[in-house]
Amino acid sequence: MSKPRRSGYRVLAPKEVRSDDRELAYEVLVGLSEHPKRLPSRLFYDDEGSRLFQRIMALGEYYLTDCEREILEAHKGDLADVVAAEPVNVVDLGAGDGEKTFILLDHLGKRSIEHRYVPIDISEGAMSALVERVTARLPHLDVEGIIAEYSDGLEALAQAESSRRNLVLFLGSNIGNFDRARSRAFLRRLWNALNPGDLLLIGFDLKKDIDLLLRAYNDREGVTAAFNLNLLTRLNRTLGAQFDIDKFRHFGTYDVFSGAMQSYLVSLERQLIEISQLSLAFQFEPWEPIHTEYSYKYLRSDVTTLAKDTGFSIQAEFLDDKRWFLDSLWRVEKAPTAMPS
Ligand code: AVJ
Repeated sequence: MSKPRRSGYRVLAPKEVRSDDRELAYEVLVGLSEHPKRLPSRLFYDDEGSRLFQRIMALGEYYLTDCEREILEAHKGDLADVVAAEPVNVVDLGAGDGEKTFILLDHLGKRSIEHRYVPIDISEGAMSALVERVTARLPHLDVEGIIAEYSDGLEALAQAESSRRNLVLFLGSNIGNFDRARSRAFLRRLWNALNPGDLLLIGFDLKKDIDLLLRAYNDREGVTAAFNLNLLTRLNRTLGAQFDIDKFRHFGTYDVFSGAMQSYLVSLERQLIEISQLSLAFQFEPWEPIHTEYSYKYLRSDVTTLAKDTGFSIQAEFLDDKRWFLDSLWRVEKAPTAMPS
C-alpha cells in the first residue's frame, strides 16, 4: 500500500462537527437574553475574525505571540528529544495560522522524527490557508486538518484508531478563554480523549504588570476593537441583525481578583436591535455592556495545581526571557485501576 496522505492533505469537515447557523442563533438568543448580556468569544472566529486575530498577533502590544515564538525557538530541540523515540501525531488545537507550530514541525522534519500534523480549527478559511501555507513550506509534511470546535475535535481525537503517541499543542493562551471551572472540565475531557503517555504542550499567559495587560488588549491601532466589533457584523450577516457598529464601543479591562482580562462591547445609546432570524428585538440601554471574552492570566502555582487536578504530570516548563509566558509540557497519567481481590 502506498501512503495516500504523504504528499497531499485532507480537510475533514463532517457536517455533524460544524456549528451551523441554527446553533449560532440559539447561542445568541441565550446570550443576549441574559443579564448582563454576553456573547461567547468563540463567535469571534469567522474568516474575517481569524484574519483580524492574525493582525492582533502581529501587534507590538500583543506580547503573547512573540513570547511563545521565543519559547518554541529556544526549546524545539528539547521537545523533539521528548518525542524522538516513536512516530508522533502533532495535534494543534485552535491552530489558527499555525505560525508558531511551524517552528516545531520544521525541526521535527530536520531531525527525521516521523510525525503527522493534525491541526484543528473552527474557521474553514483559516484551515485552508493554514494547510496551503504549511504544505508549501514543508512539502513532505503529512497533514490531516479538522475543521471543528474543541469539543468535536476531542471527539475526533478519541475515535482515531491510531495507536500513535499524541503531542497535543494548546498554544497561545487559548486556555485563557475558559474560566477556572471550565478550564478544569476541558482539560479533564482532553485527558479522557488521550492515552497514557500522550503529551500536552499548553501555553499560559502569566500574571504581570497590569499596564502591559491593558495595552495588549486595547491596542492603539484599534485592531482589538475591530476584532470585537466584527462579532456584531457577523450577526448582521448570518442572522439578519441590525447592529450599527458605530453605536457600540469596545472596552477591555483587567480584574485583578479573578485574574481575567475582560472584553465588552458597550452600547453608546438607547437602541432596539432587531434580529430577523430570531424574530426578536433586543433593547439596549445607554452604556449597557455585552460581555464578549475572558482571557485568564495565571500564576505558576495555578498551573501546577491545574495539571495535578486533571490527571497530568508536568514534564518541563519553558519560559521566555522576560518570564511573561509559560509553555508547560504535561504527560497523561492513567494509573491502572487495581482489581479488588
Ligand atoms: C486567542 C484567546 C489567546 O485571549 O489573548 C486577543 C484572543 N482577544 N486579543 C487572547 C484575543 C483579544 C486571545 N486568544
